[in-house]
Amino acid sequence: MTKPLVRIVKDVVKFVGGPFFLVYLFWRAFFRRWQFLKLGNTASTPAESNPLRDYFQNHRKGPGIWKWDHYFDIYHRHFERFRGQEVHILEIGIYSGGSLGMWRDYFGPRCHVYGVDIEPACKVYERDGVKVFIGNQADRSFWRRFWQEVPRIDIIIDDGGHRTDQQIITLEETLPKLSPGGVFLCEDVHGTYKGFTAYIDGLMHQLTAGDLVHNLDNDSRRLTARANSFQESIGSIHSYPFVTVIEKRAKRLQEFVAPKHGTEWQPFMK
Ligand SMILES: C[S@@+](CC[C@H](N)C(=O)[O-])C[C@H]1O[C@@H](n2cnc3c(N)ncnc32)[C@H](O)[C@@H]1O
Repeated sequence: MTKPLVRIVKDVVKFVGGPFFLVYLFWRAFFRRWQFLKLGNTASTPAESNPLRDYFQNHRKGPGIWKWDHYFDIYHRHFERFRGQEVHILEIGIYSGGSLGMWRDYFGPRCHVYGVDIEPACKVYERDGVKVFIGNQADRSFWRRFWQEVPRIDIIIDDGGHRTDQQIITLEETLPKLSPGGVFLCEDVHGTYKGFTAYIDGLMHQLTAGDLVHNLDNDSRRLTARANSFQESIGSIHSYPFVTVIEKRAKRLQEFVAPKHGTEWQPFMK
């Protein structure tokens, strides 16, 4: 009686255990991969020290600032190189004015801040080094007037109305004017604002496009590709939770080149 029972249990384990073991292996692989991605060193991992976050944490009185906490890591990653320099920054969306002071503190005394808001009440935040424009970011004629008065912007932060049409018009009216080497950052592109992300996907296609030319007899120009008009001036597009960042090249680029260096090559590729 006991022997057949043991055999039955063994058969069941053999039959059911195999698939279970496979499921377990898949689960482990997925879990480990996820762990690996989680541990990846990205800007969403809080930096050791971040002057913007410190400023925000210590800012308990006075003009209000309202930011997602993880934005401070993104700002610091893309803006740090401008600190202490003469830098001209534009923030769309002023609200209670506190962020304008935060940018002045972060970038230093050579920084010029320009704020834009649709609400006339925000004019009160104008002071030395801070100029405020009252206007609608979705109005292209507003931007024409803005650029007549402001000759240079190195950093653009769109924290305005957050609607897709506002974000797209703002990008189209400001990105071409942004200085070489400048940074464009659009906040709150999540949820209902996903239309903007789809628009950025279109730009990504332009950024990754490439008609490659093979120059088999020329190792110094073994592969080449002409830069399209977008690639000529745009260096990169970065995607973060709720935020898109676009960086401009410091110098225009005409062509991508992939040279080959060395004298010993495997025969399986040319
Ligand atoms: C989220 S608040 C800005 C927060 C501020 N940057 C901060 O860090 O505390 C959004 C601001 O965008 C402004 N705004 C909304 N629609 C706008 C538009 N179409 N054009 C310009 N500003 C707009 C609002 O009046 C509001 O002051």
